[in-house]
Amino acid sequence: MKFVRFIMKNAALASAPKHIEHFSKFSPSPLSMKQFIDFGSINACEKTSFVFLRQELPVRLSNIMKEINLLPDKLLTTPSVQMVQRWYCQSLMEILDFLDTNPDDHRVLAEFVDALVTIRNRHNDVVPTMAQGIIEYKEVFPQDVVTNQNIQYFLDRFYMSRISIRMLINQHTLVFDGTTNPVHPNTIGSIDPQCNVGDVVQDAFHSAKMLCDQYYLRSPDLVLQEMNHKTNSHPISIVYVPSHLYHMLFELFKNAMRATIETHENSNSLPPVKVMVSLGGEDMSIKVSDRGGGVPFRKIENLFSYMYSTAPAPQISDHSSTPLAGFGYGLPISRLYAKYFQGDLQLYSMEGFGTDAVIYLKALSTDSIERLPVYNKTALKNYKVCQEADDWCMPSKEPLDLRKYKVA
Ligand SMILES: Nc1ncnc2c1ncn2[C@@H]1O[C@H](COP(=O)(O)OP(=O)(O)OP(=O)(O)O)[C@@H](O)[C@H]1O
Ligand SMILES: [Mg+2]
Repeated sequence: MKFVRFIMKNAALASAPKHIEHFSKFSPSPLSMKQFIDFGSINACEKTSFVFLRQELPVRLSNIMKEINLLPDKLLTTPSVQMVQRWYCQSLMEILDFLDTNPDDHRVLAEFVDALVTIRNRHNDVVPTMAQGIIEYKEVFPQDVVTNQNIQYFLDRFYMSRISIRMLINQHTLVFDGTTNPVHPNTIGSIDPQCNVGDVVQDAFHSAKMLCDQYYLRSPDLVLQEMNHKTNSHPISIVYVPSHLYHMLFELFKNAMRATIETHENSNSLPPVKVMVSLGGEDMSIKVSDRGGGVPFRKIENLFSYMYSTAPAPQISDHSSTPLAGFGYGLPISRLYAKYFQGDLQLYSMEGFGTDAVIYLKALSTDSIERLPVYNKTALKNYKVCQEADDWCMPSKEPLDLRKYKVA
């Protein structure tokens, strides 16, 4: 029996490329925060959500699977990337099983929720596995500018697609599992229509502080200020996914604490990490300021690179130690979370002094719309860039010998 199932599964996987080809021809449909809330509010319709997802999830999966195939061969064939590809194929096929099922059948709807949970769990380790693939690749092959650019372009889109797919899965499974969140009863799936920004700042700071105390035996304090341009009344709240906001802040706080401690090693007191939360008409911005010595301007863009980290890479299996720095993915992934709902994350640093990291989010839920990659000719063109001569002069290291210009 096991053998028959094995054969059937492989036969199904073999037909995956045909389906990927078909579904990648559709563009993903970005949802607005309002649509997410409508899907999950009182008159939530599980059937509508099911019918939407059994089409939309294959579209999002197939769009990004086409791009995986465009990675350099040497990266594509690493065991880690192969494994990620197999997970994607399998999940795609599992969702396609629901295409011909009856949305009016309650058993089908229940099985769909179970399938989504299985898929979500299967993909839990995609980020460290992909990171492992990059490390394997970096160890064996010399890096060149074009490949680095391609990998950066791909991973930004790949991880953004992953964030969006998990968002869809989380919304459906949380809204339709029939229970309410005991801690936050007003949340709609993973969205809090009144996400208290200051509370999330405090939570994320507290967790980073505990980690920092464990590792360095000391930690800086937090000074939090809020500025609400409309009412001047606290607290500031927005319609948002608290877990996304927490993720970004936690990463920024870990970085700020590490920098603060390492630059004040010989000092008895530590300057605090200052946070300013500001709500305007269009933006809700959060600035995290540290006095951790800053980063040279030349290096700022590198900090968002998946190929660059100053910390040694941890092993995937090494779940026991949780240092303040890992794969070097803290900043790039946090920036993707910010961009996912049309925001951004930027660093302004003054070497010798400290760093300001600013998260920009949309103040209005009507402006918060998913930002999704789409596989098309423009995307394809981006993978085909070749290394051309720079159109700016490179300054020479040797001083110019002006003697030859001397008029006799
Ligand atoms: N506030 C800061 N002050 C000084 N340097 C910083 C600051 N934030 C980031 N950096 C530098 O940028 C690098 C990249 O940061 P990033 O958070 O992306 O990765 P990481 O901290 O090395 O690892 P992790 O994946 O655990 O976050 C850091 O290693 C650090 O050198
Ligand atoms: Mg970090």
